[in-house]
Amino acid sequence: MARISYDDQTAAAYKAVREVPRDGLGAWREAVQRHLRPSPGMTVVDIGAGTGAFATAFSDWFDLAILAVEPSAAMRAQIPRRPGIEVLGGHASALPLPDHSADGAWLSLVIHHIPDLEAAACEIRRVLRPGAPALIRQGFPGRADTTHTFPTNMRGLTEEEFLRGKERLRRAVQHAGHTARTETRTNWLDLLVLR
Ligand SMILES: C[S@@+](CC[C@H](N)C(=O)[O-])C[C@H]1O[C@@H](n2cnc3c(N)ncnc32)[C@H](O)[C@@H]1O
Repeated sequence: MARISYDDQTAAAYKAVREVPRDGLGAWREAVQRHLRPSPGMTVVDIGAGTGAFATAFSDWFDLAILAVEPSAAMRAQIPRRPGIEVLGGHASALPLPDHSADGAWLSLVIHHIPDLEAAACEIRRVLRPGAPALIRQGFPGRADTTHTFPTNMRGLTEEEFLRGKERLRRAVQHAGHTARTETRTNWLDLLVLR
């Protein structure tokens, strides 16, 4: 079950604060290149494409034909419309694609939203050409920090919880003073490749 409702407000917030800026995606570019071995014109289905951050990146980096499948109309509305990216309504367990029509599948931060993983696996297998990989970018239990979900998770807080947390943050910043670390923060996720 989706952990949050991807409505207009969440979609706009996602676009504003959750998309990793392109210059922070260098390691992902290199990893996708290694495992997908992309060539221009190859068709990749981006399942749960969200606001299209990876659809546009893959299109720019590798000149791929991207099928961006996304169940939320609000998230779909944020995906840039441009040649090379086809935006489709649908979800992982009912992909609006013919059999053996894709050379790769990309699922980034999506599998925790999929209610029936077995049905999704069968469906992904159906649309992939034999031997084509499914690349899964995800934090798996016990493997990664979950701070990437912080901005949208805050929407679940009550006003009182939000204000209490804000005050604690303000005090922590005051306490850290000039010793606070100012370098770029990073988090990491796994890339699971299935063939
Ligand atoms: C955390 S966002 C990730 C968006 C994008 N893949 C990214 O990495 O920026 C999760 C997305 O999965 C979508 N989603 C939810 N349930 C889904 C399902 N059953 N199949 C496919 N996508 C789903 C949501 O609508 C949302 O856009």
